[in-house]
Amino acid sequence: MKICMIGTGYVGLVSGVCFSDLGNDVICVDKDKNKINSLKNSVIPIYEPGLEELVKKNYKARRLKFTTNLSKAVRSSNIIFICVGTPTKKKGIGADLTQIYSASNEISKNINSYKIIINKSTVPVTTGDQVEKIILKKNKKKLFSVVSNPEFLREGEAIRDFIYPDRVIIGTSEKKPSRILKQLYSPLISKGAKFLNTSRRAAELIKYASNAFLATKITYINEIANMCEKLNVNVEDVSIGMGLDNRIGGRFLRAGPAYGGSCFPKDTKAILDTATKFKTNLSLIKSVIKSNENRSVLLTSRILKLLNNNLRNKKICFLGVTFKANTDDMRDSSCTKMIPSLSKRGALINYYDPTGEKKEFKKVKNVNFKSSIKSACINSDLIIIHTEWNDFKSINFKKIMNNNKFKIFDMRNIYSYEKMKKDKINYFSIGR
Ligand code: UDX
Repeated sequence: MKICMIGTGYVGLVSGVCFSDLGNDVICVDKDKNKINSLKNSVIPIYEPGLEELVKKNYKARRLKFTTNLSKAVRSSNIIFICVGTPTKKKGIGADLTQIYSASNEISKNINSYKIIINKSTVPVTTGDQVEKIILKKNKKKLFSVVSNPEFLREGEAIRDFIYPDRVIIGTSEKKPSRILKQLYSPLISKGAKFLNTSRRAAELIKYASNAFLATKITYINEIANMCEKLNVNVEDVSIGMGLDNRIGGRFLRAGPAYGGSCFPKDTKAILDTATKFKTNLSLIKSVIKSNENRSVLLTSRILKLLNNNLRNKKICFLGVTFKANTDDMRDSSCTKMIPSLSKRGALINYYDPTGEKKEFKKVKNVNFKSSIKSACINSDLIIIHTEWNDFKSINFKKIMNNNKFKIFDMRNIYSYEKMKKDKINYFSIGR
């Protein structure tokens, strides 16, 4: 099929490349000329394992193209995915839909044959109705369909999540686009993905409700971990025990620092905004947002306590600063709150991250990027494991450290509590 992806961020680029790898002709459009030129040279602007190879392979096979010319791309395609950003508004908690509406306007000028216009970006419920209104201003209804097809891609696992999705959700009440899209996704459905055709608004809400639920699940186990610390219970045992109930499931039950990323913080706020607009109260999600925001404060006070409530000139090492492993994304990473707060209290902070130095800390006093685990850890009073990169899973701390005074705060519980105690390492973790 002839597909046009508008927007070449995580969603647009990964989905576009994967669609081309399934044999479709895909044109990825972006207004950022530099980004398009980089992509034409297989220079990938995002850190996503496996993506570069797929871009090279499909670009070489001429199934995948990149352009800044939206009109031409829309005219030569019959399936148009809108994959532009929908960040939280600068004022308020709702999603900023400027890019959605501008893409819709551009599309509406280029409908030279029947088009399926698909919102793959995460958009508040009823956005599809607004997009349809914009297109209707210039086109007869029979020439297009507006469909919701939310993505469920996790950063760092996006290709796998595209190829092996649990489900493909198609939000439309029209038979023609549903049939065509079922055919487009048939290679994934034949591998076991469930196909669900529902209303457009239901599909829009499924996305937000799913992310808000996952954020709730994580916040739930984080609070249970706080309780475990008081009861001298190992939260890992509780997670495993709970997860054995297939109504609960063991995934997304790993206690850690506050959840972050480009989705959970944004989507929990956006669904609240929709609830307010439609005069309903999502009190549980409100408390999840509050609990998660408090978690960085809670963990910072834990750090303070570990250093006898005096951070002046204390040396703290952060291993990993991104919001999770296998991504370079710093958006809403819990350490973007913890590190400035520790620096303000006089701590001297070194950090190492496999994805390199971060602009977020350039202006923060006494925070330095180190190019190796050892140089970041050496002479530290406290080593904090913030992100669960594989690089941090078998460090011989006794070997790299030149004294026994140091403490470890493992925020991802990647080390065995018992082994650390046996090795007489001053080890602290989450919920254990
Ligand atoms: C999420 C959803 O998983 C994905 O389906 C959606 O399309 C986009 O948003 P992502 O934000 O990339 O994906 O990361 P995810 O792996 O979900 O982790 C989100 C946050 O939760 C991270 O900060 C992670 O560290 C944290 N997390 C995740 C936990 O603390 N514990 C867990 O068990 C799982």
